[in-house]
Amino acid sequence: MTAEIINGKTTASGIYEILAQRIKDFPSTPKLAIIMVGNDDGSVIYVRNKQKAAEKIGLKTELFHFPENASEDEIITLISRLNADSQTNGIIVQLPLPAHLTTNKIINHIMPQKDVDGFNPYNTGMLQNNEQPYFVAATPLGIMTMLKNIYSDLSGKNVVIIGASLIVGRPLATLMLNQECTVTITHIHTRNIKELTRKADILIAACGVAKLVKKDWIKDGAVLIDVGINRDNGKICGDIDADDVKEKAAFLTPVPGGVGPMTIAMLLQNTVDAYILQHQ
Ligand code: GUN
Repeated sequence: MTAEIINGKTTASGIYEILAQRIKDFPSTPKLAIIMVGNDDGSVIYVRNKQKAAEKIGLKTELFHFPENASEDEIITLISRLNADSQTNGIIVQLPLPAHLTTNKIINHIMPQKDVDGFNPYNTGMLQNNEQPYFVAATPLGIMTMLKNIYSDLSGKNVVIIGASLIVGRPLATLMLNQECTVTITHIHTRNIKELTRKADILIAACGVAKLVKKDWIKDGAVLIDVGINRDNGKICGDIDADDVKEKAAFLTPVPGGVGPMTIAMLLQNTVDAYILQHQ
């Protein structure tokens, strides 16, 4: 068996076409406010990619770039202003933040109706209760969209997630549970991790460790979703060793070109939905 590659770029392009069409009919242009603190290498690239993709579909972005030593008060004051600004439809704070800032304290300030990253406790809580949040986090949403192109029904699937982050692991586990999957979240303290991952019909690696998942971690015919973006000898690679697993897995998302483009497409979809929500 050679794994079929799930092309996130192609799926994202289809979503952009639909979004561009929707925006064309709006009386004004939706706007996403992006708050970045410091110059984390990854964040600089992610933010630039988000702005470029937004521009292409006719969506405005405004970048608020604070220095590394910015205070919580300064950032929260800006968020309060953006919450009240009728021209701003979505607000995100690019993560990670510098260590002196308390991430939850800052992102909890974004009003749930503009929280297009879906990180506010109102949105995560509604998801947890299997009710409709205003927004669901973009990476898990992108992964669910890709999986729905493979499976018409996820009920009963054995899902193992490596990584318990606010951005990916936790919301993704909840989305999968809400689809009646049997979900295991593993993390750095998990013992005998391979015994768990080998049972997965769907394995999601979101831990930020280059090429961690090898062929002896997976079962025959597994669906592998790679969220990692790492560097290995200067070359971009995921958390899954693609060359090692490709003869054993049924499906595999590539890095780059898999989950990454879908994350940006889902963020922009959330921003367009936020515009509609605020114009109802
Ligand atoms: N850093 C890595 N991924 C994300 C994301 O989806 N949203 C935000 N705000 N920061 C991130």
